[in-house]
Amino acid sequence: MPQTADTPASVAYDLDTDELARQYEATSGKAQYETGLVLLQELPVIPGAHILDIGCGTGLLAAHIASLAAPHGRVVGIDPLTKRIDLARKKISPDLEGTLSFEYGLAQDLSRFGNESFDIAVMNSVMPWLTTEQQQKTLREVFRVLKPGGCLGVAGGSGDHPNHFYEVRKRVLFRDPYKDYYPDPAIGAPKRITSDALVRLSRETGFSESKIRFESRALVVQTKEEVLQMATSSSFGNYTRSLPDELQTAALDEMVRGFEEFQRDGHFEIPIETLIAVIYK
Ligand SMILES: C[S@@+](CC[C@H](N)C(=O)[O-])C[C@H]1O[C@@H](n2cnc3c(N)ncnc32)[C@H](O)[C@@H]1O
Repeated sequence: MPQTADTPASVAYDLDTDELARQYEATSGKAQYETGLVLLQELPVIPGAHILDIGCGTGLLAAHIASLAAPHGRVVGIDPLTKRIDLARKKISPDLEGTLSFEYGLAQDLSRFGNESFDIAVMNSVMPWLTTEQQQKTLREVFRVLKPGGCLGVAGGSGDHPNHFYEVRKRVLFRDPYKDYYPDPAIGAPKRITSDALVRLSRETGFSESKIRFESRALVVQTKEEVLQMATSSSFGNYTRSLPDELQTAALDEMVRGFEEFQRDGHFEIPIETLIAVIYK
């Protein structure tokens, strides 16, 4: 099957490495974590709440949520990346045992969870990695596992605004010799949903109401190595995966040069627009 932006094959899960998982936690994970904290302000996370963190990655946010829901709450994080779940499990400190757990799993298959078993579901920087079909399946599943009156919090990049990590990448992948390997630069790139599409999707899948807003901020990154680590680790190896090994370094060098416009006094300030949505059952 040819790869296009819409085929599930456009994102692979077997490219992740221990190094990428570690880098995610050290660099990109912190940016996503900050977004997650903004999202949490909109969600009724109280002691005793049952919360499902879908696409929890290395579990930074889930562990924080668990500290808010403890001691009688329950927080379950799921993610298809085994190396990230392994890192996440290290965050189950003795005081969170019994509250926090992590499992391998996909957003679109929540069959292990019963109907109406969670007060809140969270998807922080996860939705763009799902195809349109997977997004529909996921929201139907989330609707099923949420208690009446429960809600889904969604945060991350939106299709309403450009994402500089992928604008820079697209410009480079359109050039020779890279373009031969990327008939469509959307391959391996996140499919960011627009706010209108998210509202439509939530209605189609049974949700009653959604509140959506955007947050603008600058991502401050100290070195060009960190910029690249953010790009490659938050895409779990998909950023330049279709290029042969011998072209990887040259392409990444060109991408780093593409970020020079964001250089300020020895560091980078990359503007990001984040969608923050709460969708009610
Ligand atoms: C940018 S990371 C965000 C991780 C975490 N939510 C955070 O805030 O740091 C995107 C995560 O989405 C996960 N993901 C991608 N496709 C998924 C799917 N179909 N179901 C569940 N998680 C998925 C990836 O494995 C990855 O851990």
